[in-house]
Amino acid sequence: MKKWYAVIGDPIKQSMSPSMHESWFKENSIDAAYIPIHVPADRLREAVEGLKNLGCSGWNVTVPHKSAIIPFLHQLDPSAEQMNAVNTVRVLEDGTLIGYNTDGNGFVRSLEEAYGERSKDKKVLVIGAGGAARGIAFALHSAGYGPIFFANRTLEKAEQLAANLSDSTVLSVAEAELSLSEFGLIVQTTSVGMNFSQKGLPLNLDNVLEGTIVADIIYNPLETEFLAEARKRGAHTLNGVGMFVHQGALAFETWTEVHPDTEFMNEKITTTLGG
Ligand code: ATR
Repeated sequence: MKKWYAVIGDPIKQSMSPSMHESWFKENSIDAAYIPIHVPADRLREAVEGLKNLGCSGWNVTVPHKSAIIPFLHQLDPSAEQMNAVNTVRVLEDGTLIGYNTDGNGFVRSLEEAYGERSKDKKVLVIGAGGAARGIAFALHSAGYGPIFFANRTLEKAEQLAANLSDSTVLSVAEAELSLSEFGLIVQTTSVGMNFSQKGLPLNLDNVLEGTIVADIIYNPLETEFLAEARKRGAHTLNGVGMFVHQGALAFETWTEVHPDTEFMNEKITTTLGG
């Protein structure tokens, strides 16, 4: 039987995962399909049962189900356990459902594809303290980056996050702004700047040094106000396309054991988004 995969979320129409995975299946001569499925929050349990009963081999999970899906799975990979969130499910032959999280490692791979390990022995500033900040900080830490500093609008949330990650420290946004020149890598994980909806910067970049690597995990727009400001100040920038592509590539590898082409996919998505 032809294998099939899916992405579930609400909303789901905008997802670029179907075209990305369909391209990779084709490029690698794998006879499989990948479909987007709209699943509202109150239908998640039925959706998981349905996917399993209809023979789905694996699926991606997006907003708002990343944590809510955990009770419906049988096992969690350490990546998902650490982040308390799942973005990839693999279905074993016997129906066992295993949850993974490839978001954080997707970010690290995208950083290293663009800049190698240049920022490895430098201080890292993560802006934000939500799910994305958590995934990225844990993955950076596991890959040997750090020390890691968190700056967030709501200080208590950053404190909670730092309490669970060794070798990490909390700064107020004002403190981070003043000490910006100390960081070799700055990662913006908040929703400020997404889809042009929230204007402004989550943190003032006046003190950023030339040559600092400044990343924003947003990919629509390709260049947020934050990244534009960093570029004007001579920083090396990285948008969220690479993270999106690499989280997908890691999911693809989990399902097929094939590592798909990420550089060409990055260019293709950048072009689609108007770059
Ligand atoms: P995600 O899973 O994408 O990380 P989240 O868990 O809802 O989403 O976290 C959103 C992050 O963006 C938080 O760090 C949030 O800051 P607060 O903890 O203070 O809420 C941050 N954020 C959202 N809107 C913001 C804004 N207008 N200014 C600054 N930070 C903002």
